[in-house]
Amino acid sequence: MRRSLGKGLELDDDPARIDVAAVHDFLANQSYWAEGRPYDVVERLVREAQRVVGAYDGGRQVGFARAFTDGVSLVYLADVYVLPEYRGRGLGVELVREMVERGPYADIRWVLHTRDAHRLYGKFRFDRPSERLMERYHRG
Ligand SMILES: CC(C)(COP(=O)(O)OP(=O)(O)OC[C@H]1O[C@@H](n2cnc3c(N)ncnc32)[C@H](O)[C@@H]1OP(=O)(O)O)[C@@H](O)C(=O)NCCC(=O)NCCS
Repeated sequence: MRRSLGKGLELDDDPARIDVAAVHDFLANQSYWAEGRPYDVVERLVREAQRVVGAYDGGRQVGFARAFTDGVSLVYLADVYVLPEYRGRGLGVELVREMVERGPYADIRWVLHTRDAHRLYGKFRFDRPSERLMERYHRG
């Protein structure tokens, strides 16, 4: 899948195209959820994901999203970001749309965690968890 968004921006789900150094740089140094994540871990997560979607401005990686799943019961959306200078022009919405609604996992249950992007995900029918969902928090 390769989809042009106009003005030189495009989405691509080719894992080989992911600029792991750029993704690592954002996640390790600018994200609130993966601060300090080592490079080799980011590399492995990209390699082992069932689907990654990158947003590109020409050759530059400007956004990213990762999904992992058993392909049947549950798919988890992780590591969604758009670089600060590319925010506020619909790229985040298109990244999530491509991953959730257009990909091979559109018909199974999605789960994610977010601190403050509820409105973004609400556009794609993400809602508060039902009473059936439980979470085992890590210690500390
Ligand atoms: C969340 C994020 C991916 C949205 O990307 P984006 O390209 O700015 O998104 P869009 O332009 O498609 O807009 C989507 C929503 O984000 C909001 N938004 C726009 N600019 C924003 C900004 N600079 N910061 C935060 N949210 C912003 C918009 O208001 C819009 O919601 P609305 O239409 O209901 O008002 C991006 O702000 C980001 O990377 N944030 C830091 C990382 C992060 O928090 N990721 C989510 C982890 S769960």
